Amino acid sequence: MRILKYLFDKNRAWAKRVGAQDPEFFTKLSAQQKPEYLWIGCSDSRVPANQIIDLAPGDLFEHRNVANVVVHTDLNCLSVIQYAVEVLKVKHIIVCGHYGCGGVKAAMQHEELGLIDNWLRHIKDVYQKHQTVIEAIADENERVNKTCELNVIEQAHNVCHSTIVQNAWRRGQSLTVHGWIYGLEDGLLRDLKLAISNSDEIAEVYKMATGSSRS
Ligand code: CO
Repeated sequence: MRILKYLFDKNRAWAKRVGAQDPEFFTKLSAQQKPEYLWIGCSDSRVPANQIIDLAPGDLFEHRNVANVVVHTDLNCLSVIQYAVEVLKVKHIIVCGHYGCGGVKAAMQHEELGLIDNWLRHIKDVYQKHQTVIEAIADENERVNKTCELNVIEQAHNVCHSTIVQNAWRRGQSLTVHGWIYGLEDGLLRDLKLAISNSDEIAEVYKMATGSSRS
Protein backbone atom coordinates (compact mmCIF):
# COMPACT_ATOMS: atom_id res chain seq x y z
CA MET A 1 0.00 0.00 0.00
CA ARG A 2 1.35 3.41 -0.95
CA ILE A 3 -0.14 6.22 1.09
CA LEU A 4 1.83 9.22 -0.21
CA LYS A 5 3.03 10.08 3.28
CA TYR A 6 5.26 12.90 2.03
CA LEU A 7 2.21 14.81 0.85
CA PHE A 8 0.66 14.59 4.31
CA ASP A 9 3.97 15.78 5.75
CA LYS A 10 3.94 18.73 3.38
CA ASN A 11 0.31 19.46 4.33
CA ARG A 12 1.10 19.48 8.06
CA ALA A 13 4.06 21.79 7.52
CA TRP A 14 1.89 24.14 5.42
CA ALA A 15 -0.95 24.24 7.97
CA LYS A 16 1.58 24.95 10.71
CA ARG A 17 3.16 27.77 8.70
CA VAL A 18 -0.20 29.39 7.91
CA GLY A 19 -1.38 28.98 11.51
CA ALA A 20 1.83 30.59 12.78
CA GLN A 21 1.22 33.66 10.61
CA ASP A 22 -2.45 33.95 11.58
CA PRO A 23 -3.67 31.73 14.43
CA GLU A 24 -7.32 32.50 13.55
CA PHE A 25 -6.94 31.71 9.83
CA PHE A 26 -8.55 28.27 9.69
CA THR A 27 -11.21 29.01 12.32
CA LYS A 28 -12.36 32.12 10.43
CA LEU A 29 -12.27 30.35 7.08
CA SER A 30 -14.18 27.30 8.30
CA ALA A 31 -17.08 29.55 9.39
CA GLN A 32 -17.79 30.89 5.88
CA GLN A 33 -16.42 31.47 2.41
CA LYS A 34 -16.96 34.83 0.75
CA PRO A 35 -14.88 34.84 -2.43
CA GLU A 36 -15.24 37.73 -4.86
CA TYR A 37 -14.01 35.77 -7.84
CA LEU A 38 -14.96 32.68 -9.78
CA TRP A 39 -12.05 31.34 -11.79
CA ILE A 40 -12.70 29.12 -14.81
CA GLY A 41 -9.36 27.79 -15.96
CA CYS A 42 -7.48 24.91 -17.56
CA SER A 43 -6.68 21.75 -15.56
CA ASP A 44 -3.01 22.15 -16.54
CA SER A 45 -0.81 21.60 -13.46
CA ARG A 46 1.28 24.62 -14.41
CA VAL A 47 -1.63 27.04 -14.00
CA PRO A 48 -2.70 26.82 -10.33
CA ALA A 49 -5.21 29.66 -9.99
CA ASN A 50 -4.65 30.78 -6.37
CA GLN A 51 -0.91 30.69 -6.72
CA ILE A 52 -0.50 32.71 -9.90
CA ILE A 53 -2.63 35.58 -8.62
CA ASP A 54 -1.25 35.15 -5.12
CA LEU A 55 -4.59 34.77 -3.33
CA ALA A 56 -5.17 32.85 -0.12
CA PRO A 57 -7.63 29.98 0.40
CA GLY A 58 -11.12 31.47 0.62
CA ASP A 59 -10.51 34.19 -1.98
CA LEU A 60 -11.26 32.26 -5.15
CA PHE A 61 -14.02 29.88 -6.19
CA GLU A 62 -12.69 27.65 -8.90
CA HIS A 63 -13.67 25.42 -11.80
CA ARG A 64 -11.03 23.83 -14.00
CA ASN A 65 -11.29 21.50 -16.96
CA VAL A 66 -9.24 20.63 -20.02
CA ALA A 67 -8.76 23.88 -21.99
CA ASN A 68 -11.15 26.00 -19.84
CA VAL A 69 -14.23 25.16 -21.87
CA VAL A 70 -17.71 26.42 -20.94
CA VAL A 71 -20.34 24.26 -22.61
CA HIS A 72 -23.97 25.38 -22.35
CA THR A 73 -25.09 21.89 -21.30
CA ASP A 74 -22.22 21.02 -18.92
CA LEU A 75 -24.06 20.63 -15.60
CA ASN A 76 -20.81 20.51 -13.69
CA CYS A 77 -19.59 23.90 -14.93
CA LEU A 78 -23.09 25.43 -14.86
CA SER A 79 -23.62 24.31 -11.26
CA VAL A 80 -20.36 25.97 -10.25
CA ILE A 81 -21.38 29.20 -12.01
CA GLN A 82 -24.86 29.09 -10.50
CA TYR A 83 -23.61 28.55 -6.95
CA ALA A 84 -20.91 31.19 -7.36
CA VAL A 85 -23.30 33.82 -8.76
CA GLU A 86 -26.51 33.13 -6.85
CA VAL A 87 -25.27 31.91 -3.47
CA LEU A 88 -21.74 33.26 -3.04
CA LYS A 89 -22.53 36.37 -5.08
CA VAL A 90 -19.09 36.66 -6.65
CA LYS A 91 -18.46 39.99 -8.37
CA HIS A 92 -16.21 38.69 -11.13
CA ILE A 93 -16.03 35.59 -13.31
CA ILE A 94 -12.57 35.16 -14.81
CA VAL A 95 -12.13 32.79 -17.75
CA CYS A 96 -8.40 32.23 -17.91
CA GLY A 97 -6.65 30.20 -20.59
CA HIS A 98 -2.93 29.81 -21.14
CA TYR A 99 -0.56 29.91 -24.08
CA GLY A 100 0.71 26.55 -25.31
CA CYS A 101 -2.42 24.79 -24.00
CA GLY A 102 -2.20 21.05 -24.69
CA GLY A 103 -5.98 20.79 -25.08
CA VAL A 104 -5.99 23.49 -27.74
CA LYS A 105 -2.99 21.92 -29.51
CA ALA A 106 -4.68 18.52 -29.51
CA ALA A 107 -7.86 20.03 -30.94
CA MET A 108 -5.82 21.49 -33.80
CA GLN A 109 -4.38 18.11 -34.76
CA HIS A 110 -6.04 15.17 -36.41
CA GLU A 111 -4.89 12.39 -34.08
CA GLU A 112 -7.47 10.27 -32.28
CA LEU A 113 -7.08 10.49 -28.50
CA GLY A 114 -10.25 8.78 -27.29
CA LEU A 115 -13.13 10.13 -25.21
CA ILE A 116 -11.46 13.51 -24.88
CA ASP A 117 -11.91 14.10 -28.62
CA ASN A 118 -15.59 14.77 -27.89
CA TRP A 119 -14.59 17.46 -25.38
CA LEU A 120 -12.00 18.94 -27.74
CA ARG A 121 -14.69 19.16 -30.41
CA HIS A 122 -15.77 22.43 -28.75
CA ILE A 123 -12.34 23.90 -29.42
CA LYS A 124 -12.40 22.62 -32.99
CA ASP A 125 -15.62 24.63 -33.33
CA VAL A 126 -13.76 27.75 -32.13
CA TYR A 127 -11.01 27.01 -34.65
CA GLN A 128 -13.49 26.64 -37.49
CA LYS A 129 -15.32 29.83 -36.53
CA HIS A 130 -12.06 31.82 -36.74
CA GLN A 131 -10.29 29.69 -39.36
CA THR A 132 -9.46 32.58 -41.71
CA VAL A 133 -7.75 34.62 -38.97
CA ILE A 134 -5.87 31.63 -37.52
CA GLU A 135 -4.67 30.19 -40.82
CA ALA A 136 -3.34 33.58 -41.91
CA ILE A 137 -0.64 33.21 -39.20
CA ALA A 138 2.51 31.56 -40.60
CA ASP A 139 4.19 30.41 -37.37
CA GLU A 140 2.75 27.24 -35.82
CA ASN A 141 3.21 28.30 -32.17
CA GLU A 142 1.66 31.66 -32.90
CA ARG A 143 -1.28 29.88 -34.50
CA VAL A 144 -1.77 27.77 -31.37
CA ASN A 145 -1.48 30.83 -29.15
CA LYS A 146 -4.00 32.79 -31.21
CA THR A 147 -6.40 29.84 -30.92
CA CYS A 148 -5.79 29.81 -27.13
CA GLU A 149 -6.79 33.49 -27.00
CA LEU A 150 -9.85 33.02 -29.21
CA ASN A 151 -10.89 30.02 -27.11
CA VAL A 152 -10.86 32.19 -23.96
CA ILE A 153 -12.95 34.84 -25.70
CA GLU A 154 -15.49 32.29 -26.96
CA GLN A 155 -15.78 30.57 -23.57
CA ALA A 156 -16.18 33.89 -21.75
CA HIS A 157 -18.84 34.70 -24.32
CA ASN A 158 -20.59 31.43 -23.45
CA VAL A 159 -20.52 32.43 -19.76
CA CYS A 160 -22.20 35.75 -20.67
CA HIS A 161 -24.95 33.94 -22.57
CA SER A 162 -25.68 31.42 -19.79
CA THR A 163 -29.11 31.80 -18.20
CA ILE A 164 -27.39 32.27 -14.83
CA VAL A 165 -25.39 35.33 -15.86
CA GLN A 166 -28.21 36.73 -17.99
CA ASN A 167 -30.61 36.49 -15.04
CA ALA A 168 -28.09 38.04 -12.66
CA TRP A 169 -27.72 41.05 -14.94
CA ARG A 170 -31.49 41.29 -15.33
CA ARG A 171 -31.77 41.44 -11.53
CA GLY A 172 -29.21 44.26 -11.48
CA GLN A 173 -26.55 42.15 -9.75
CA SER A 174 -23.02 43.51 -10.06
CA LEU A 175 -21.11 40.91 -12.09
CA THR A 176 -18.31 41.24 -14.64
CA VAL A 177 -17.06 38.48 -16.93
CA HIS A 178 -13.36 38.70 -17.85
CA GLY A 179 -11.15 36.97 -20.43
CA TRP A 180 -7.49 36.52 -19.46
CA ILE A 181 -4.59 34.43 -20.66
CA TYR A 182 -1.50 33.23 -18.80
CA GLY A 183 2.02 32.83 -20.16
CA LEU A 184 3.74 29.63 -19.00
CA GLU A 185 7.09 31.08 -20.05
CA ASP A 186 7.01 34.25 -17.96
CA GLY A 187 4.35 33.60 -15.31
CA LEU A 188 2.40 36.68 -16.39
CA LEU A 189 -1.29 37.22 -17.06
CA ARG A 190 -2.57 39.21 -20.02
CA ASP A 191 -5.97 40.85 -20.15
CA LEU A 192 -7.61 40.02 -23.47
CA LYS A 193 -9.52 43.32 -23.27
CA LEU A 194 -12.66 41.43 -22.49
CA ALA A 195 -14.66 42.66 -19.51
CA ILE A 196 -18.43 42.49 -19.81
CA SER A 197 -20.71 43.85 -17.09
CA ASN A 198 -24.12 43.75 -18.77
CA SER A 199 -25.94 42.25 -21.77
CA ASP A 200 -25.65 45.44 -23.83
CA GLU A 201 -21.85 45.22 -23.81
CA ILE A 202 -21.61 41.66 -25.15
CA ALA A 203 -21.71 42.32 -28.89
CA GLU A 204 -19.37 45.34 -28.84
CA VAL A 205 -16.75 43.78 -26.54
CA TYR A 206 -16.84 40.50 -28.47
CA LYS A 207 -16.30 42.39 -31.71
CA MET A 208 -13.33 44.28 -30.29
CA ALA A 209 -11.79 41.19 -28.70
CA THR A 210 -12.04 38.96 -31.75
CA GLY A 211 -11.95 41.53 -34.51
CA SER A 212 -15.11 39.87 -35.78
CA SER A 213 -18.67 41.13 -36.07
CA ARG A 214 -20.09 37.69 -35.38
CA SER A 215 -21.51 37.17 -31.91
CO1 CO B 1 -4.35 23.90 -21.01
